[in-house]
Amino acid sequence: MQNFNYRNPTHIVFGQDRIEELATLIPANARVLITYGGGSVVRFGTLDKVKAALGDRTVFEFGGIEANPKFDTLMQAVSVARDNQVDFLLAVGGGSVMDGTKFISLAIQYDQDEANLLKYGFTPVPVESDKVIPLGVIATLPATGSEMNAFAVVSYQGGKFPVNHPAIYPTFAFLDPKLTFSLPSIQVANGVVDAFVHVLEQYATYPVDARVQDRMAEGIMRTLIEIGPITVAEPTNYEARANLMWSATSALNGMIGVGVPFDWTTHMIGHELTALFNIDHAQTLAAVLPSVWRVLTPQKHAKLLQYAERVWDITEGSDDERVEQAIAKTEAFFQQVGLKTCLRDHGIEKSQLDDVIKALEAHGMTALSETGKVDLAISRQILEMAW
Ligand code: NZQ
Ligand code: ZN
Repeated sequence: MQNFNYRNPTHIVFGQDRIEELATLIPANARVLITYGGGSVVRFGTLDKVKAALGDRTVFEFGGIEANPKFDTLMQAVSVARDNQVDFLLAVGGGSVMDGTKFISLAIQYDQDEANLLKYGFTPVPVESDKVIPLGVIATLPATGSEMNAFAVVSYQGGKFPVNHPAIYPTFAFLDPKLTFSLPSIQVANGVVDAFVHVLEQYATYPVDARVQDRMAEGIMRTLIEIGPITVAEPTNYEARANLMWSATSALNGMIGVGVPFDWTTHMIGHELTALFNIDHAQTLAAVLPSVWRVLTPQKHAKLLQYAERVWDITEGSDDERVEQAIAKTEAFFQQVGLKTCLRDHGIEKSQLDDVIKALEAHGMTALSETGKVDLAISRQILEMAW
């Protein structure tokens, strides 16, 4: 196992009908900016419940944060927050609203060009923690894990840029499965696949004898395989949705990722596909991940074999056959919940793969995977296989 530090300060409030407890978690004299997306929280009544729970605090609102939140939109919210001396942010929505709000929290007191905040990738941005406005979250979409991590992804000038800072962990996150019952089934399927791929990108690398992390990862994946199809088909099945919600949070709150290598190749290629072709985040992952594995089988062989046996109960055939069966079962699982696994099914022409390669190059994505050996030529191979 590799050395690690682990600290996660987010207070989770899990369960149904607990929004009134907001009052105990936000200072009584706070000046709160509620942020939300394109209107689902207005239509389904969540915003009203949140405002009621905030009582007589001074509250401002900023709606209209789009999926894959854009820098320019977020800067409008920054202006609202600055004009009104906001000192607490409350994100009500999915990963895009949570991520956007994290960016806003960093930008409000930042005294340089705010686009600089997008330059640092997975390295924490150089901002003093006491200059970051605290934020809380009411999650309405189980997928990204943003509710309990210190990352955000912001769209800017044709790219998607990760942002990281220890002070953007939400101070609290309300996870009420009932608030997600209104999701369209495709968004639920997106959530199942996003969470599954988050687990795999911290698991399918090479063995470091991290037994707790491996078995937790396998437990989350087996849970998603069991409840994924149920929660897509039965939107108001509380127990299935509760298990999806905690799986998605557990997949990317850092716990299974301590002391192990990562491979974010699928996400980095996927981000370019979203930015170029406007394909939902998780749908890019469903198309790219199987090809990442087929191309990188030699470097991932031992963990893929472990995955085949412990997650899919595959015990027959040669080692290579077991690995291929596990990849095929993973693809079938993505399709079973309703996602496409080929890029051409998203209407992408083969010639457009050149644009993806150019974007990877422009964004410095030229040494991906746990080995750093995935250069543009290997990314092209992955994309051609995923097409
Ligand atoms: O905008 P509204 O009207 O709210 O509608 C949203 C949006 O259209 C809708 N929705 C959300 N909750 C709903 C609902 N509709 C009905 N009922 C509800 N309860 O769902 C649509 C998609 O929302 P979005 O927030 O974009 O989806 P998701 O949670 O999948 O977030 C995707 C974003 O997260 C980033 C992605 O790159 C993408 O920008 N990620 C963030 C990560 C992180 N912070 O750690 C990691 C992930 O890998 C990912 O990259
Ligand atoms: Zn993701």
